[in-house]
Amino acid sequence: MVRHFLRDDDITPAEQRQIISRAIALKADRFAAQPLAGPQTVALLFDKPSTRTRVSFSVGVTELGGSPMVIQSGESQLGAKESIADTARVLERMVSAIVWRTFAQSNVDEMAAGTTVPVINSLTDEFHPCQLLADLQTITEHKGDPAGLTVTFVGDGSSNMANSYLIACAMAGMHVRVATPADHQPLADAVSSAQRIAGETGASVLVTDDVVAAVTGADVVVTDTWVSMGQEADKAARIATFTPYRVTPELFALADSAAIFLHCLPAYREYEVDAAVIDGPRSVIWDEAENRLHAQKALLEFLLTA
Ligand code: CP
Ligand code: NVA
Repeated sequence: MVRHFLRDDDITPAEQRQIISRAIALKADRFAAQPLAGPQTVALLFDKPSTRTRVSFSVGVTELGGSPMVIQSGESQLGAKESIADTARVLERMVSAIVWRTFAQSNVDEMAAGTTVPVINSLTDEFHPCQLLADLQTITEHKGDPAGLTVTFVGDGSSNMANSYLIACAMAGMHVRVATPADHQPLADAVSSAQRIAGETGASVLVTDDVVAAVTGADVVVTDTWVSMGQEADKAARIATFTPYRVTPELFALADSAAIFLHCLPAYREYEVDAAVIDGPRSVIWDEAENRLHAQKALLEFLLTA
C-alpha cells in the first residue's frame, strides 16, 4: 500500500528515527541510494514561493538518480481549470512521487486520496513536516539523541512550524514547549496528537504564554517568521502581537548554556530573532538548511521502497 507524508505522524516514531539516521548516512555518502534510477520523475508543485524546498528537492531527486519537474502555481491546469482529483490521476501515470507546497492541508489530503504514488507535503498552512525531519537531524548531529532533550518553539503557536514541532518532537521523545500568545494557539488536533504520542514516547507537551518560563533551561530554542506566507496583509498587527516573543540575546541566555538555535528560514532579523542570536556561535541554521536535502532524500527512499 502506498505511503504518503502529509503530516509528521504519517510515519511512526521508529520510522522517524530510521529516516533521520539514513539522512545522516546519506550526508556522508551522497550518491549511495539510487531509488529513482531510470531516471524516474518526481513532480514538485508550488503554490507558494520557496528557496530551500525547491532547491533541496530538485537536487535530492537528481542525486537519487531521478529527474525533478518543478511546476509553479498558474503554470498547470491545477486549481483554475482542473480538479485535484483529476490532476492526481494524470500525474500518477507519469511520475513516481508528488511533492506539493500549497495552502490548505485538505489539498494534499485530496491529492493523496486520489493517487497511487507517494504524496509529500512540502508545507501547508497547517504543517511543515519535511522541515521537522531536517531539524531533528540537525538536533541529533549537534546534541545527540533528541529523546529527553527540551525544545522550545517561540512565536506564532498557530503556525505550520509550531504544529509540526509539537507532533514531530513528541514522536522523538522530546519535552516540547510552545511559547505563544493566548490567541495564537496551535491546532487542537496537533496538541492532542502530540499529547497522545508523548504518552508512548516519554515526551511531554506544554503550550504557554510565559516565554521566560518556556525558554529557561531549554536545550534547543527555535523560532519562525511572525508573518507566514499568505498573512502579509496582517503584517503590522502581527508584529505588534509577537514583539514580546522576540528571541533576544537576553532571552536566549535563559536557555541551557549549550543550547542551540534553529530557524527554518527565511528569517527576519530584529523581528522574531536578533542578529546576535541567529548569527551567533550557537546558531546552527546553515546545517539545518542543508539537512533539508539529506532528510528529504532519506524520506523519498523510504516512501519509494515502502
Ligand atoms: N524553510 C523553508 O521551507 O524554506 P523555503 O520557503 O525557502 O522553501
Ligand atoms: N511559517 C512559514 C514557514 C516558511 C518556510 C510560512 O508558512 O511562511
